[in-house]
Amino acid sequence: MSETTDRLPVHIGFIMDGNGRWAQKRGLPRKFGHREGASAFRKIARYCKKIGIKYVTFYAFSTENWSRPKDEIDELMKLFGEYIDEVGEYAEENTRLIFLGDKSAFGKEMADKMSELERDSRDFDEMTLMLAMNYGGRDDIVHATRQIAAMVENKEIRHTDVDEALISGLLYTGGIPDADLIIRPSGEKRLSNFLIWQSAYAEFYFTDVLWPDFTPKELDKALEDFASRKRRFGGV
Ligand code: FPP
Repeated sequence: MSETTDRLPVHIGFIMDGNGRWAQKRGLPRKFGHREGASAFRKIARYCKKIGIKYVTFYAFSTENWSRPKDEIDELMKLFGEYIDEVGEYAEENTRLIFLGDKSAFGKEMADKMSELERDSRDFDEMTLMLAMNYGGRDDIVHATRQIAAMVENKEIRHTDVDEALISGLLYTGGIPDADLIIRPSGEKRLSNFLIWQSAYAEFYFTDVLWPDFTPKELDKALEDFASRKRRFGGV
């Protein structure tokens, strides 16, 4: 890693894709792939912190994923619940936790725990870990737009006050820098409604490796690739 540390992305987004295929390749039910994917998530999150990445976002459950079979959704909820209970025990990790998306869909008990974790970790500043759960990029923009409409309706602002900074600040990622690098394993090359506003100038890295097989070594490859990119942000 040493050769790329001088050009590390500030914010990396991970689309954790390929869990189902990982399991199917082994003749196992899809939910085993999610369990293995959750293990990869823990390893990658820790590695990101170790190498000094300041912001990481993992796409754990999209607003569209509710249409999956019940047993698969149940397994994912179980994995999220386990993680939420476990993470509360290591507040000393100095990692801030933020959940992107509408928490209310997970029920009051879990939503309260999520809010509590966000509150308790608010001042931790070594790394910010965002879990996109019941998240959709379009829903994120709708959610921000509704807040703006209410502000205009209440005459707190005028329509001419609406600008990119105002919208950015009202997204679930308000105050967090935009994504620099989006990583999608499993061979698919699309964004699937993930951080659509926040990745306007992101670099994309795709690999055929399935998410449960995505190791710190694979992340190093992505970071080396990122370090070699020339980013122009619309300039020349
Ligand atoms: C997409 O792969 C993956 C998901 C819809 C779920 C991702 C969630 C996890 C990896 C668990 C995360 C756990 C915690 C604790 C945050 P897919 O199932 O669509 O794969 P496929 O394209 O091969 O079918």
